Amino acid sequence: MPPVRNESSSFHSEALTFISSLLPPFSALPLPKLLKLIYRLMVMSSSSSSSLLPPFSFYVCLLLLLLLLRISESETITKSKLTNTTRHYRQLSYDYHGKTCPQLEQLVASVTSQQYREAPISGPATIRLFFHDCFVEGCDASVLIASKPGNTSGLAEKDAHDNKNLPVEAFDSIKKAKALVENKCPGVVSCADILAIAARDFVHLAGGPYYQVGKGRWDGRISMASRVSFNLPRANSSVDELLKLFGSKGLNLEDLVALSGAHTIGFAHCEHFVSRLYDYRGTKKPDPYIEPRFLKALQMSCPPFGGNVDVVAPFDVTTPFSFDHAYYGNLQAKMGLLATDQALFLDPRTRPIVVELGKDKQRFFQAFSAAMEKMGSIGVKRGRKHGEIRKDCSVHS
Ligand code: HEM
Repeated sequence: MPPVRNESSSFHSEALTFISSLLPPFSALPLPKLLKLIYRLMVMSSSSSSSLLPPFSFYVCLLLLLLLLRISESETITKSKLTNTTRHYRQLSYDYHGKTCPQLEQLVASVTSQQYREAPISGPATIRLFFHDCFVEGCDASVLIASKPGNTSGLAEKDAHDNKNLPVEAFDSIKKAKALVENKCPGVVSCADILAIAARDFVHLAGGPYYQVGKGRWDGRISMASRVSFNLPRANSSVDELLKLFGSKGLNLEDLVALSGAHTIGFAHCEHFVSRLYDYRGTKKPDPYIEPRFLKALQMSCPPFGGNVDVVAPFDVTTPFSFDHAYYGNLQAKMGLLATDQALFLDPRTRPIVVELGKDKQRFFQAFSAAMEKMGSIGVKRGRKHGEIRKDCSVHS
């Protein structure tokens, strides 16, 4: 065998090995390494002289192509990473209505404060309404649309089973705020923005933090009851399921724990926790992670069968009307109302956050505000192509 041929075939196979080694883990290969490989290939190929091999330019072109792909790929990754982290804040702005409706927040505040005085239940109800809006189709007021009688395409979100307990006071608050805003600034402010502002107002009115609300959402054109159930958590979802669902909305572990802190106010119907009280997971015994006196009180309100379906229990037995961090203390004392609440203290991934937020009210307020801002940016629509600005929040324009 002529040495040149030997040398050449070894060069050939080494070159192909290089190239094929680049292909599968290509996305993981750092640019400096890729450049070094090109350089080595050039050195080797310049010492080879076989005419049986593809020309030197073939390898260099192939590698340059890979290099270009690598660069454009890494740019795309960087861009999409940036988009992911800034997405929430890029689409909304605090002064979006600065020129078109400068008095917007005062207008909404005048309604929410009066509503809170007259019907305090509007507070927790509106915060929950906002959550149910954002998780289904994004924060676009799709939850406010009323089903059309006789509509063949099905019911609107509002009439889905999971939304049936949303108190009318929440819808009323938004309706009143919208009417006032339309009167002063016609046709410019979406129902979705009004809902986001009202939810923040109620958090604050109940004693919670006052955070800035980004604005600029448009109202959605789609509202379908059939899209609700798989986009909302169940009262007995596992932490894995919660993390998966929240993760699919761009919310992380800390957001989950912080947002669940909204259960520091408001009430739940027996149907959502009765399965914990008598026959937990087929054991014929109550859930062992319920404090005995708390269990007794809940059992008195919620019999195993035939109880009044309208009976509710407070989420936070210690300070049910005050937006504070007592919720986390309750979880540590086995006084979480829903299985999902208690699970946050039982799961080793979420427990440290529960403990941390339970120790420090300001830390909770800061985590809650940040998480609400993130939640308020889910699936935001902008412009006429994807959205609308409704006059009446319950009817598409
Ligand atoms: C983590 C998963 C969650 C589950 C499984 C869950 C489930 C529930 C359930 C079953 C109720 C009782 C409804 C009723 O019987 O009327 C409720 C009420 C409530 N939820 Fe959640 N929720 C979750 C997260 C959230 C989030 C993220 C927020 C807001 C940021 C929120 C805010 C509220 C409020 C304020 C109430 C009280 C409503 C009222 O008193 O009218 N929840 N939730």
